[in-house]
Amino acid sequence: MGKRVRTAVIPAAGLGTRFLPATKSQPKEMLTVVDRPAIQWVVEEAVAAGIDDVLIITSPTKKGVEDHFDRMAELETLLEAKGKVEMLASVRRITDMATFHFTRQGAPLGLGHAVSMAARHVRDEPFAVLLPDELLPDGGATLRRMIDECEASGSSVISLFEVDGPEISNYGCAGFSSRDGDVVEIDRIVEKPRFEEAPSNLKVTGRYVFTPEIFAKLAVTEPGQAGEIQLTDAMAMLIGDPGLRGLVIKDAGYDAGQKLDWLRANIELSLDDPVAGTEVAEMLAGIMKSRGLA
Ligand code: UTP
Repeated sequence: MGKRVRTAVIPAAGLGTRFLPATKSQPKEMLTVVDRPAIQWVVEEAVAAGIDDVLIITSPTKKGVEDHFDRMAELETLLEAKGKVEMLASVRRITDMATFHFTRQGAPLGLGHAVSMAARHVRDEPFAVLLPDELLPDGGATLRRMIDECEASGSSVISLFEVDGPEISNYGCAGFSSRDGDVVEIDRIVEKPRFEEAPSNLKVTGRYVFTPEIFAKLAVTEPGQAGEIQLTDAMAMLIGDPGLRGLVIKDAGYDAGQKLDWLRANIELSLDDPVAGTEVAEMLAGIMKSRGLA
C-alpha cells in the first residue's frame, strides 16, 4: 500500500477576468455563494473527502483568502461576549477544519506553474488539486472515490465530464484506451482541441489526484498557449508511466467563476439549504408570478 493522500492544493492565483467588475479588487474565490465564500465550499468538500491539510496558492490581490482561513481573535471574543454561540462556532469551524498553508505564485504563469508551487510542501506524497471556482457540493464523494482509485492503482486520477458537440473545444479533453464502469484509462489528453480532432467528448474538470511524479513533469513542461505552463501538458506525460485515469462524473457542479453559473449555484444551493430553502422557494415563486413567468 502506497502513501495516503493528505493534502489538497487549491490554486487561487488567477486573475478572474470573467467576473469583472466584481473581481477588480476582490478575489473571485471570495464571492459569496449562499452564505460563505466560494473557496470555503471547496475546502469543505476536501475535508469531507478526508483531507486535513490545505495549501492555497495565492497572489498579492488575494489577501482576503488568507484572512478568511485565519483566526480573528477580536471577532471571536466579541461573539463570545454577546453569547452568539452558533455564529462563533461557524467562525471557529473555518480555521479548525484543516491546517492551512499559503504560498504566493509570484506571477500568473498558468495553472501548471501554480501547481508546481506545491512541490516543496507535498514532496513525495500523492495529493489532490481542487480548482476553487468549480463547486462540487456532493459531500466530498467524488473526490473520495478519486483518492481511493489513486491509492489503489498508483495512477493519477482526474475528473471528466461528457459534453455535447463543439463545446469540447473550450476545454481540456481526454481520450481513453479502456473503460471499466465510470473509470477510464487515459491514452491522450489535449487542451482545447478542434471538434473534429477531439479524442472524445470528455472534458477535464477541476478535480485532480496526482502522484508526486507530476512535479518532475511540470519541471520540464515548456510554456504553451499564452506563455503559460499548462497543467494538461504535464498530465500528458503521466500517461502510461505511472498512469493517468479518469473518473467520469455525472454532475459537474457549478462554475462559480462565471456570472450565470455563479447565480445558478446561489439559487440551487440556497434552495437546498435546510434552514432557508423553503423561504427561498417561496420568494422565487413570487418573483416568477409577479413577472408573469409562471
Ligand atoms: P482560470 O483561467 O479559470 O482562472 O484558471 P482565472 O485566470 O482566475 O480566471 P479568468 O479566466 O481570468 O476569469 C483556473 C484556476 O487556476 C488558477 C485560478 O486561480 C483558477 O482557480 N490559476 C490560473 C492560478 O492559480 N495561477 C495561474 O497562473 C492561472
